[in-house]
Amino acid sequence: MINKKEEKADSMEITSFSPEQTRLIGECMARHVYSGLTILLYGDLGAGKTVLVKGLGDGLGARGVRSPSFTLINEYEGRLPLAHVDLYRLERGDEYELGLCEYADDGFVLVIEWPDRLAEQPTKDLWKLYFCRDSETVRRISFKAEGEKAVKTMELLLKDIGEIGQ
Ligand SMILES: Nc1ncnc2c1ncn2[C@@H]1O[C@H](COP(=O)(O)OP(=O)(O)O)[C@@H](O)[C@H]1O
Ligand SMILES: [Mg+2]
Repeated sequence: MINKKEEKADSMEITSFSPEQTRLIGECMARHVYSGLTILLYGDLGAGKTVLVKGLGDGLGARGVRSPSFTLINEYEGRLPLAHVDLYRLERGDEYELGLCEYADDGFVLVIEWPDRLAEQPTKDLWKLYFCRDSETVRRISFKAEGEKAVKTMELLLKDIGEIGQ
């Protein structure tokens, strides 16, 4: 059972009680993402960001998603192309070398861990997820969206997530 708590109209909090549930949330996201969407994942080490991206990869048919902590960026082929970025090792501002906005222009779904390292958001159409570790197995994830299409698709996503486990 996934707990869903409405906070404000533009933000929703979901509680996950296991890695499997977080992975399912990611898989559910795959049904609502679109080319050019950027997903920013905020939260400490071990919060579950990569677990969620593995689920997203499963849902997109992109096999073997692994943390790009050392490579910075991994690309996958699936129903939509997926670029998974981890900026943990970067200093703020270094992303200009990475050309992240080009992924969105090229039709990728772009997912970024540690987006706090970015000086600027790569696109205007964004989903933002904030992970909070409550205990060994409990994670609270807040969902926000910016940009018309991102907001609309997130509304559908959140309805869909609410139905997981019911
Ligand atoms: N509810 C949960 N959701 C996601 N991960 C969880 C959960 N409960 C425990 N975990 C564990 O927390 C760790 C999360 O790791 P990871 O996804 O790599 O974190 P991050 O990418 O945020 O640094 C994994 O070892 C996972 O098994
Ligand atoms: Mg990670």
